[in-house]
Amino acid sequence: MKAVVYTQYGVPSDVLQFKEVEKPTPSDHEVLIKVHAASVNAADWHIVRADPFLARFATGLLKPRHTIPGADVAGRVEAVGSNVTLFRPGDEVFGDLSACGWGAFAEYVCAGENALVLKPANVSFEQAAAVPLAAVTALQGLREKGQLKAGQKVLINGASGGVGTFAVQIAKSFGAEVTGACSTNKMDMVRSLGADHVIDYTQEDFTRNGQRYDLILAANGNRSISDYKRALSPEGIYVTTGGAMAQMTQAMFQGSWISMTGSKKMGNMLATPNQKDLTFVREFLETGKVVPVIDIRYSRFLKLSSTLKKGTLKEKSSSPWRSVTEPLVLRLLEEVAKPTPTQNEVLIKVCFETPRRSLGGHKGQRARIHCLLHLNIGHPDACNQLRGSRSLVQ
Ligand SMILES: NC(=O)c1ccc[n+]([C@@H]2O[C@H](COP(=O)([O-])OP(=O)(O)OC[C@H]3O[C@@H](n4cnc5c(N)ncnc54)[C@H](OP(=O)(O)O)[C@@H]3O)[C@@H](O)[C@H]2O)c1
Repeated sequence: MKAVVYTQYGVPSDVLQFKEVEKPTPSDHEVLIKVHAASVNAADWHIVRADPFLARFATGLLKPRHTIPGADVAGRVEAVGSNVTLFRPGDEVFGDLSACGWGAFAEYVCAGENALVLKPANVSFEQAAAVPLAAVTALQGLREKGQLKAGQKVLINGASGGVGTFAVQIAKSFGAEVTGACSTNKMDMVRSLGADHVIDYTQEDFTRNGQRYDLILAANGNRSISDYKRALSPEGIYVTTGGAMAQMTQAMFQGSWISMTGSKKMGNMLATPNQKDLTFVREFLETGKVVPVIDIRYSRFLKLSSTLKKGTLKEKSSSPWRSVTEPLVLRLLEEVAKPTPTQNEVLIKVCFETPRRSLGGHKGQRARIHCLLHLNIGHPDACNQLRGSRSLVQ
């Protein structure tokens, strides 16, 4: 089968290979899934780079223990191990494989049955693949760490991203009054998810507008912990899911101190993938309470980054932290015809660089992200954005 493979840690564009590997065989407790769609999360970028370094204790000290990345998967069960009771061949499933060997960026993957749930019929494979990691993180951040209750005022910072789009919808369905903070061109989308108020973080500082929130879920790495503390109500809770190292470290150390010495609770979280929470999310999908937001679909995947998001590269390059990935849904390994540009289009083979600081690292470092796929980018702005950001368009 074909798969995206890495055998050493490093810059994704250097270490990821697209190659033929042996099709896996399920063990007694596993199912074999034919992958129909997978999505990219920041976690994929982190494990390929082994960044932060401590991640190596989980993924392999000197080289990766699991050589195919990809946590979020949706597909059809092709075979089951002898002890599998929950699924049978033909079932449509989705799940987060980050706790059971990764491997979604391939034609087939084996997974423990406890990592999966049945895909609701009203949701496509692509939509389902966009859900598990981000939605379960949002759920656990709000419900467990955030102790969300109906009627509370909740702020989601990073409301337009993978975690944030789910957090807005889940918080609303729990009966909260939700404010989402995002960039200008995502405001309508966040509003459409049900947010009661939307703040454009490029225009307004939500920590200084006089509002106080019972719960803040920060799905990005943009603010200091004292900013967040100021925006909390006297007994408010702040939970950060991730972002820049500074924000994570502050939440871990200063956050613990603030929580021990005052009435506000502040800290970070590490999501724990589990079937129970995924089933909970599945019900939201089935009833339409939660709808996955898909930013871009790729018909074929090799190496990519959300920097290909339409029209956002230039304006975002000035922000201190920017998303690594959105729930980009990829239909894997499906050969498609190379597109032919129409009169108003250009055909681009893309290969570009983006500032490393955008990935939460040090200013000035650069990450090279090669997108080895043929994209038909028809909108003239898309070309300008790529050129304007030191892109190398061949
Ligand atoms: N702890 C865990 O278990 C766990 C699980 C999942 C994810 N994470 C982490 O959580 C973080 C978010 O993940 P994700 O998948 O949601 O990422 P994502 O899809 O890339 O979304 C990032 C969000 O941050 C926003 N953002 C960027 N710059 C901003 C700024 N200056 N001010 C306010 N918001 C800004 C983006 O908004 P715009 O696009 O509108 O600019 C976007 O909504 C990542 O660091 C990821 O590693 C942790």
